[in-house]
Amino acid sequence: MSLQAEIEKRKTFGIISHPDAGKTTLTEKLLLFGGAIQVAGAVKSNKIKKSATSDFMEIERQRGISVATSVMAFEYRQKKINILDTPGHKDFAEDTYRTLTAVDSAIVVIDVAKGVEAQTEKLVGVCRTRSTPMIVFINKMDREGLDGFDLLDEIETKLGMKACPLTWPIGMGQRFQGVYNIYKGNIRLFSAHGKQTLDDTIEITDLSDPSLDELIGEAAAKELREEIETIQEIYPPFDQEAYELGMLNPVFFGSAINNFGVKEMLDCFVDIAPAPLARHTEEREIEPDENKFTAFVFKIHANMDPNHRSRIAFLRICSGIFMRNTNYYHVRNQKKMKFSSPTMFMASKKDIVETAYPGDIIGLTDSGNFKIGDALTEGETLHFKGIPAFSPEQFRYINNADPMKSKQLYKGIDQLMDEGVAQVFTKLDTNRKIIGTVGALQFDVIQYRLEHEYGAKCTYEPVPMHKACWVSADDPSALTELKSRRKKNLAVDKDDKLVYLAESAWTLKMAEDNHPDVKFHTSSEF
Ligand code: G4P
Repeated sequence: MSLQAEIEKRKTFGIISHPDAGKTTLTEKLLLFGGAIQVAGAVKSNKIKKSATSDFMEIERQRGISVATSVMAFEYRQKKINILDTPGHKDFAEDTYRTLTAVDSAIVVIDVAKGVEAQTEKLVGVCRTRSTPMIVFINKMDREGLDGFDLLDEIETKLGMKACPLTWPIGMGQRFQGVYNIYKGNIRLFSAHGKQTLDDTIEITDLSDPSLDELIGEAAAKELREEIETIQEIYPPFDQEAYELGMLNPVFFGSAINNFGVKEMLDCFVDIAPAPLARHTEEREIEPDENKFTAFVFKIHANMDPNHRSRIAFLRICSGIFMRNTNYYHVRNQKKMKFSSPTMFMASKKDIVETAYPGDIIGLTDSGNFKIGDALTEGETLHFKGIPAFSPEQFRYINNADPMKSKQLYKGIDQLMDEGVAQVFTKLDTNRKIIGTVGALQFDVIQYRLEHEYGAKCTYEPVPMHKACWVSADDPSALTELKSRRKKNLAVDKDDKLVYLAESAWTLKMAEDNHPDVKFHTSSEF
């Protein structure tokens, strides 16, 4: 198959949601359609769920939350679909932001009873700034929840999306009868825990057809007719170009656990979701059909095996063809590397791959050569954009609790930071290290992993800190002045970039006022 055909075959996307909306359940059903897993019935599938989501880390089992981002691939209707699972837990938001740099589109899962929740808002916000095409799946229609129109309103007002309902529910909860497929003009009737077959689909080309009343009852039929009329008046018809530009968002209704409405969405996804898109670098735009191979690391995953401190670097292929045992150029380290056992993930199982194409995600065993954002090329110097660090929200001093193990501690901290678990800032005045994280949970993760993987012990000390801002100035003397006057607030990040640590919003404002020639940035990419 030609490179172009391989590219067109691929769809790489992420599922985003607030925890508990049903992301894992939906992923599992998608894998089922693709034959990547086989399960009969929903009860068993909950067990599979635990292994379908990756539980590479001990800590995940301990805490019962999905710390890891897993990658799963399956084939459906001659397309190769790569799903990048994203941790919904807010403390791992950075991990999710980075994963979203590696997708070409996203599916947003919303719980019908809860509506748009905080984490969904944040993640959709990230996708919107990148104009990522998104499809919405309203889940748990077998339960009572918000009215369909109210949900569409929330999607528009809270998420800033332009909703375009492509299916519409007939009732909900106890009264849930099925969905009307607006763009195909047919009805699929709901049966709890039922398997969907094409026979369940009843063609209703004209909603005024009296057979609709017999099918779902007079009252429901009347309601459906009115609702569809309202939808056609208020909401725009589907438009492929607007969707691809991130300006129109198809909405589907269903119940993941009952495998209902999932196929409608998957079929539509396969029809409309974009094939691998171009990627931006500081130097130029990379088109997927370029012959030369390029890729970047968007995630580093620790220790599949706690006895070996190896890691897996997840690589998104952006152009050309990746081949096993071939020399590629590691841009940051300026050296050639080849990989004897690159892996691809099929659900929880991984296989060695010989070749991979744009849109594919492969895992490379790494002994510490990679950092997040690293580029691999055939010799060209490229720096991928869009993988910034954001200001952490929580800060603590980290202290060495076992002086005999300081080497292990610093090595551990370095490697955990390369993985993007948290950020470390070294203060200019005292040389002390401050760990910054999005949530409190990472402090425990770091402490646990330092001990179990590096044999080092640490303690934390509170540090009253509000934000870390990366600083820059056109005139270098402005930075020199900042350094001489505010040294105690300055630190360097792991790439030696200068960072201003502000104790409060007020002190940040003061610093900005007193140093008008210095720019304060809330992300490391500016
Ligand atoms: P997440 O990955 O987004 O966190 O959500 P997950 O799929 O784990 O689903 C969260 C809970 O919602 C699970 O129940 C799951 O069974 C349930 N769920 C998912 N889809 C539907 C649906 O369509 N209808 C209904 N009624 N429930 C749904 P749990 O009790 O928290 O977990 P479990 O014991 O079932 O594993």
